[in-house]
Amino acid sequence: MDYFNYQDDGRLFAEQCAVADVADKFGTPTYVYSRATIERHWHAFNDAAGSHPHLVCYAVKANSNIAVLNVLARLGSGFDIVSGGELLRVIAAGGDPSKIVFSGVGKTVAEINLALDHNIHCFNVESTPELERINDLALSRGVQAPISIRVNPNIDAGTHPYISTGLKENKFGIDIDLAEGVYQVASKMPGIKLIGVDCHIGSQLTELSPFLDAVDKLLLLIDKLSAQGIVLEHLDVGGGLGVPYNGETPPQPAEYVQALKAKLAGRKLALIFEPGRAIMANAGILVSKVEYIKLTEHKNFAIVDAAMNDLIRPALYSAWQAIAPVNKSLERECLNYDVVGPICETGDFLGKNRDLTIAMDDYIVVRSAGAYGSTMSSNYNTRSRPAEVMVDGDVAHLVRRREGLEEIWKDEAILPAE
Ligand code: LLP
Repeated sequence: MDYFNYQDDGRLFAEQCAVADVADKFGTPTYVYSRATIERHWHAFNDAAGSHPHLVCYAVKANSNIAVLNVLARLGSGFDIVSGGELLRVIAAGGDPSKIVFSGVGKTVAEINLALDHNIHCFNVESTPELERINDLALSRGVQAPISIRVNPNIDAGTHPYISTGLKENKFGIDIDLAEGVYQVASKMPGIKLIGVDCHIGSQLTELSPFLDAVDKLLLLIDKLSAQGIVLEHLDVGGGLGVPYNGETPPQPAEYVQALKAKLAGRKLALIFEPGRAIMANAGILVSKVEYIKLTEHKNFAIVDAAMNDLIRPALYSAWQAIAPVNKSLERECLNYDVVGPICETGDFLGKNRDLTIAMDDYIVVRSAGAYGSTMSSNYNTRSRPAEVMVDGDVAHLVRRREGLEEIWKDEAILPAE
C-alpha cells in the first residue's frame, strides 16, 4: 500500500500534496517520493521480524538519494551496499556503519579498506580470491574482518533473466556444493571472523517457494558447519521480494518474514534482510509532461519529457509500469498510445499500448518508479537527470536539485590548441 491516491475530484495526490502543484513548482521530469510510504514498507519488514534478532538492511542501489537513506537511518535501518560510494553515501545520510553489509563480486582494495576503516557489520564475500584479499588487508591492520559467504544455491527465482542471480551460471556467490570447503579454509584465516551466510537469488520474486528452498539449502550447510565447530550467527536472505507492478500478487513482507521465522524456529540464528524494491518501488513516481501528441496511421504516440535516460527499466527489461494522468477528470478523448521519450532510439519508451485520457501539456505519472529509477538514470543525449522531491505530509521537499546542463560536461576537457 502506498500514499499516492486520487482524490474524488480526479487529482492525484502524494500524501497531502497535489502532484500537479509539485510539478508546477519543481518542473518535470521529477521523481516524487512519499516518506510515509517508505516508512510503512520498512516497518512491514521490521515489525514482522519482531523480537527475532534481525537487521533490515535496505539495499541502497534501489534508491540512494540521501534523503531516502536518512529517513531509513532515522528508523534505525541497516544498509546493504555494493560500493565505496554507497558506503560514503550512507554515512553522509546519517546511517550507522555497524549496521552495514557489503555485497558485490568486485570489491576493490580501496573499498575493502574503506569498509574496514568504518567497522561495517559484515562483508558478504563472493569468491575465494576476495576472501584472501580481505584476510590480507585485515591482517595488515591487525584486525579481523567479519564476513559471511554468499552462497549460490542454484535456485531458479522464476524472474527476468537479467535480474536472476541464484543460478549456477550466474556470476554471483560461491557454489553451494563448494561452500563448505570455503568455510573450512576461511575458518583458518587469522584475519577473518566468520559470522554468517548469505544468498540473494534474484529480484522481483512473486512466489515464496524459491526463497524457502534457498533457506532450506542454507540451513543444511549451517548444520554441517556447526557439526565441525563453525558456528554462524546470522542468515542473510538477501533482497528480492517483488512488488505489484501490473496485478502481480507477491507475498506481503509480513507473510514472507513469518515463513522465514518458522524455518528458523528453535535456532539461535539472527536474520538479515536486504530489501530494496519492496521498500522503494511503490514509494515513488516519475512525473512527466506530455510535449506532443503524434497521431500516425499505425500508432498514436504520446511524446513526453521523461525518457529512457530517466527511467530505463521499460527499455532494459521490458518492464511494465503503470502510466496515468495526474488529473483524471480533464475532458479528454481516450486513445491508445505508446508513451515515448525524446531520445533517438526506438527502445526509448516508458510504456506501450496504454489507453490514456491525455492531451498536450498535461502531466502524467509513471508509477512504481521509486526503485531502480533515479539510481539507473544517465545523461544520455546530454539530458540532465531529473529533480527528486520527497513529500512529507503536506510539504514537498526538494531532495535533489535538477542538474544544470553545463554540469553534465564540466569535467570534460578539450585538447590543447595546436
Ligand atoms: N541484495 C543484493 C545482493 C542484490 O544484488 C540486490 C539487488 C538486492 C539485495 C536488492 O534486491 P531487491 O529487494 O531490490 O529485489 N535493476 C533491476 C533490479 C536489479 C537488482 C540487483 N540486485 C530492476 O530495475 O528491476
